[in-house]
Amino acid sequence: MVPRLKAFAKSCSDYAPSKAPVFYNPVMEFNRDIAVLALQAYQKTIEREISVCEPLASCGARGVRFAVEVQGIRKVVMNDINEKAFVIAKHNAELNNVEAKITVKNEDANLLLNKYSAPRRRFDAIDVDPFGSPVRYVDSAIRALRDHGLIALTATDMAPLCGVHPKACIRKYGGKPLRTEYCHELAVRLLAGCLATMAAKHEMGTHIVFSHNAEHYVRIYATIEYGAKKADEALKNMGYVLHCFECFHRESLNGLHTVERSGKCSECESKLSIAGPLWLGKLSDARFCDLMEDEVRRRKLRQADRIGKMIALIKEEVDAPIGYYVIDKLCDALNLPVPSVKKVAEKLGKNGFAATLTHFNSKALRSNAPSSEVQRSLKEAVRESK
Ligand SMILES: C[S@@+](CC[C@H](N)C(=O)[O-])C[C@H]1O[C@@H](n2cnc3c(N)ncnc32)[C@H](O)[C@@H]1O
Ligand SMILES: [Zn+2]
Repeated sequence: MVPRLKAFAKSCSDYAPSKAPVFYNPVMEFNRDIAVLALQAYQKTIEREISVCEPLASCGARGVRFAVEVQGIRKVVMNDINEKAFVIAKHNAELNNVEAKITVKNEDANLLLNKYSAPRRRFDAIDVDPFGSPVRYVDSAIRALRDHGLIALTATDMAPLCGVHPKACIRKYGGKPLRTEYCHELAVRLLAGCLATMAAKHEMGTHIVFSHNAEHYVRIYATIEYGAKKADEALKNMGYVLHCFECFHRESLNGLHTVERSGKCSECESKLSIAGPLWLGKLSDARFCDLMEDEVRRRKLRQADRIGKMIALIKEEVDAPIGYYVIDKLCDALNLPVPSVKKVAEKLGKNGFAATLTHFNSKALRSNAPSSEVQRSLKEAVRESK
């Protein structure tokens, strides 16, 4: 049972999910599908029954799906501060015949998570899906997670994370964003870096198993391992991305305390701009992607095609260099017509470089080629397309 959104929209352009007395966003079905697949993949890796918490559950669309669709779920605790949401979530658990597995609570998410932070009360998986930034819940979620537990975070505050409001990003995520053409990747890296740093404070190491960007949000899935050494290991993935706005050159710098303030571009000597500290490590785990792909095949999801394509792309880009090149953007700067991405990738291959597509942007590719070589291959592709 969900709110009838049309009843709360005052005009055609009204974004009704936030206008309804209880939040429900049908567009997030894709996000919830991925959450179901990731939770099942995780359950399969640990091979026992798991407990799950959704501390910001609204009417329970996600938590109920976990209980109904994921095998090996022992219990789901769903919670929302909105009393109406709580009532509907409870009703949805009954409607779907999973009330025996689901406990519904009506309190502040941090308060709830803190009640579950004692050793034998902790969850195997926690899915934090709030309005805007998940940051205010991360600390409590980490503390309520068992060793090797799975944490999922949604961030919809793309304006700070993509560098429109850099101060807000630094404040919330502890890293500087940058308005580059690959800002969505930087957004995922800022969120992952924030999680890894917060977990490290609790002497826990972070391993990102899956992440993606769609519509108006980024989402990460990470397993957390207890231990100071694990935390130190994870922090080795932190660092900075340096970007040249003159020639599109980008590079990364490992380590948290190594940035020279006046770095110059190695290609054109212009001043480099800095993003970070952020996560420079892998943004997904190929084996975890395989498990998710198995699950897509086993199920009848409405958006199976779109999901399958996205996971395949994500798997391909796991080891590819940081910072993709957006072909439209390059063509704009070079005053060129836009060739197909495939054609540019082919040219890069012929010129001796690797090129990989990315799920972040259908008009972009990642390459180990320096920006000057990407531009050369692009010009060749344009010439041949004429
Ligand atoms: C984006 S919605 C959740 C959507 C849901 N996870 C889904 O997949 O459909 C965010 C929810 O967080 C709830 N919320 C906001 N602040 C909260 C808090 N401090 N504690 C608990 N719930 C809160 C809101 O009432 C809202 O229902
Ligand atoms: Zn440069």
